[in-house]
Amino acid sequence: MRDDLAKAVRPFLTEKRYGHTLRCRDMALRLADRWGCDREKAEEAALLHDITKKADNAGQLQLCDKYGIINRYSESEFPWLIHADTAAEVARDLFGAPRDVCMAIKYHTLGREDMSLLEKIIYLSDAIEEGRDYPGVGEIRKTAFENLDMAVLMSLEGTIKDVEEQGRAPHEQSRMAADFLRKQLEKENRMDNINMEPKELLAEIVKIADGRKAKDMVAVEVTEQTTLADYFLIMTGTSSTHIRALSDEIEFQLKDRFGVYAHHIEGINSNWILMDYSTVVVNIFMSDAREMYALERMWGDSRPVDLSKFITAE
Ligand SMILES: [Fe+2]
Ligand SMILES: [Fe+2]
Repeated sequence: MRDDLAKAVRPFLTEKRYGHTLRCRDMALRLADRWGCDREKAEEAALLHDITKKADNAGQLQLCDKYGIINRYSESEFPWLIHADTAAEVARDLFGAPRDVCMAIKYHTLGREDMSLLEKIIYLSDAIEEGRDYPGVGEIRKTAFENLDMAVLMSLEGTIKDVEEQGRAPHEQSRMAADFLRKQLEKENRMDNINMEPKELLAEIVKIADGRKAKDMVAVEVTEQTTLADYFLIMTGTSSTHIRALSDEIEFQLKDRFGVYAHHIEGINSNWILMDYSTVVVNIFMSDAREMYALERMWGDSRPVDLSKFITAE
């Protein structure tokens, strides 16, 4: 532990902020151990992250002047956000912190696109150290040890929502950070789906739908026709409530039992629900819509899949 550094930062911080800083260090070390990040850097960044927080607006402006920091914040944002920029410079100048540590300090309040592991750890440690007590913090804390990107996204989204509820516009940089992570997580989910054999996935969907009394299920193999999917599956429901129940059940069970998420789901409020599981595309129709779109005819000579062993005859 860098007790020398912990002592050195003490005069820069109020008592309350010092407590927060030490708890932030504890969390950063735990997260560094969990995710294989350099412990010393995590500790250094955590101890230095709020080092200029004590300065008032005039003091912050002086630091901006001294280090050539361009103020990119609006008047209302400035008091909350500028300390991250000035702390990064002071960490470098007075404490000799290396560049990656300074970057983690600089982005600890807003995040940014494509954050490094260290940046994510410091961003989160600040938000979820054990002294933090806001609605939802427990869930983010738990997630931080299971899925780091997910936890950062949850935290960013929480902040964005809070700011919006106060009638202010969230900072562009946080929005972009959240969008970036959302896309990345979506891509990972898609990879997960591919990890489940397409044929196995198809069989599971057919069994789930059969349990919910889907009618006239037909599947074709389309590997030769398209790279978009391996299988198309069609089924019919008897009412809008029924097709909705079918899609809900498929979505829930695949998520719950296999951790498989749909890439996207369309038409929830129409007579045709399309669920894209990448390798398997599921079409759930009301009977009139099924006739109207006549998808099966478009498939022409695609190879039908024998589903009889998954379907219980009525
Ligand atoms: Fe801060
Ligand atoms: Fe902080």
